[in-house]
Amino acid sequence: MTREDALKILDELKNSPNMKKHGLGLGFTMAELFDYFEKKNKKPELTKNDWEIVGLLHDADYEITNKSLELHTEETTKKLKEIGAEQIIIDAIRGHCDKEPRKTLMAKSVYAADELTGLIVACALVQPEKKLATVTKESVLKKLKDKSFAANVNRDQIKTCETELNISLEKFVEMVLKSMQEKSDELGL
Ligand SMILES: [Fe+2]
Repeated sequence: MTREDALKILDELKNSPNMKKHGLGLGFTMAELFDYFEKKNKKPELTKNDWEIVGLLHDADYEITNKSLELHTEETTKKLKEIGAEQIIIDAIRGHCDKEPRKTLMAKSVYAADELTGLIVACALVQPEKKLATVTKESVLKKLKDKSFAANVNRDQIKTCETELNISLEKFVEMVLKSMQEKSDELGL
């Protein structure tokens, strides 16, 4: 499965520009996390492309299913099965909303990073220029503690980076922020 196949699915499932950017952002982050976890692994089970695709498509049917938690990921699963995507990719996408147990590092990564990318976008949007460039690790960590800021962001989900991925919250914020800042043009931020 290629990145182009994933982008095509985003269009077929009628993602809005904002939703598409959310997928793109988490895709870039997943590619960064692949480098952290798997680069030194001589025989990784999956490729960097696979990790990016999981980020790109995790919420692909969120809008088309009217944000129904029951239906979420079912349409994406159908599309992925049609094109013969690997089960491990499907399971990671389904795992981010508790439809499957999160067994792989890829599944755990997409779960922990999803809400953090949302928080980082919120941090960018309150900057005078509304840009990622002026967001710092320290400011994100501060906003994480301030539960009234972007109150819908699930902090406990982000903190699974420590329990499930063995990365400190500080390091995780640093990596996810960097991955998004490097692609800020593509994210329009
Ligand atoms: Fe998401």
